[in-house]
Amino acid sequence: MTVLVEAAGLTVAYRTGSALLARLRGRPAPEVRALDGVDLSIERGSIVGVVGESGCGKSTLARALVGLAPLARGEVLFEGERMGRRRTREQTRRVQMVFQDPSASLDPSMTVGQTLCELLRVHRMVPSDAVAARAEDLMRRVELPPALLSARPRRLSGGQRQRVGIARALALEPDVLVADESVAALDVSVQAAILNLLQQLRVDLGLTIVFISHDLAVVRHLCDRVVVMNGGRIVEDRPVGELFDDPRHPYTATLLAAAPRFAVLDRGPEPMPPAASMQSARIPREGAPIG
Ligand SMILES: Nc1ncnc2c1ncn2[C@@H]1O[C@H](COP(=O)(O)OP(=O)(O)OP(=O)(O)O)[C@@H](O)[C@H]1O
Ligand SMILES: [Mg+2]
Repeated sequence: MTVLVEAAGLTVAYRTGSALLARLRGRPAPEVRALDGVDLSIERGSIVGVVGESGCGKSTLARALVGLAPLARGEVLFEGERMGRRRTREQTRRVQMVFQDPSASLDPSMTVGQTLCELLRVHRMVPSDAVAARAEDLMRRVELPPALLSARPRRLSGGQRQRVGIARALALEPDVLVADESVAALDVSVQAAILNLLQQLRVDLGLTIVFISHDLAVVRHLCDRVVVMNGGRIVEDRPVGELFDDPRHPYTATLLAAAPRFAVLDRGPEPMPPAASMQSARIPREGAPIG
């Protein structure tokens, strides 16, 4: 496999107090290093999980990958080409984010169709007479009935809204999706259906996915590789099976031990995690079509 995205030395620091006060006291400005020299290479077509406790820098890494974090140092390379501090429209298009809370990122006054069509037009993804048909294709791609194009976000279920969030990202035909806790707010059965969809998109479109999650069972089920973060740094980065069966870094071991489902790992075969059992049950998509 070829490396698609490479992060080198990504460092993001946020001020946590008054720089002036610190200078008057002869101290360095107080800051928190949300990312501290993160190196990461992501192979095309892979699903990379990012785990670690709250505040370890996962969302900052996500924002850095899509070009939204204020980098103090480091860079992101796409197919070996450096993406500058200000990405070109083409560079922006190729790495898209799917957020945790789609309601916060969808305009409540616009119908799903208006949202998708506007994006397609602004980015000139297709000729203007093909915009409506492409919007319908996108709905089918995320397994939503095209009739929902006329619905506003508040009429959709949480799972449907998240599918629209994914459709919106796919509208720009990205190579990479960065999903930051994208299923965390959903019911377990709806989560499973969205995870199935992400897997399907990887197969059908060859998408590369960076999947950030608190849920280790979900990461184990979905991802090829797992990156463990602690205090803004990557402490372990290995294929998923190896990492879960034989964590090398003490922090990873602690993280796995703290997750009840993984506490049994040392004591023989693990019971099937809920996400895996849901996958084999092929839960149908959630919610009935509206309107
Ligand atoms: N805009 C900001 N201003 C100041 N500090 C920030 C900002 N964004 C993040 N931080 C700090 O950077 C660190 C990393 O935050 P980040 O949101 O990346 O963590 P996270 O791993 O995504 O956490 P969670 O699991 O809770 O979502 C935290 O200490 C956080 O308080
Ligand atoms: Mg976060």
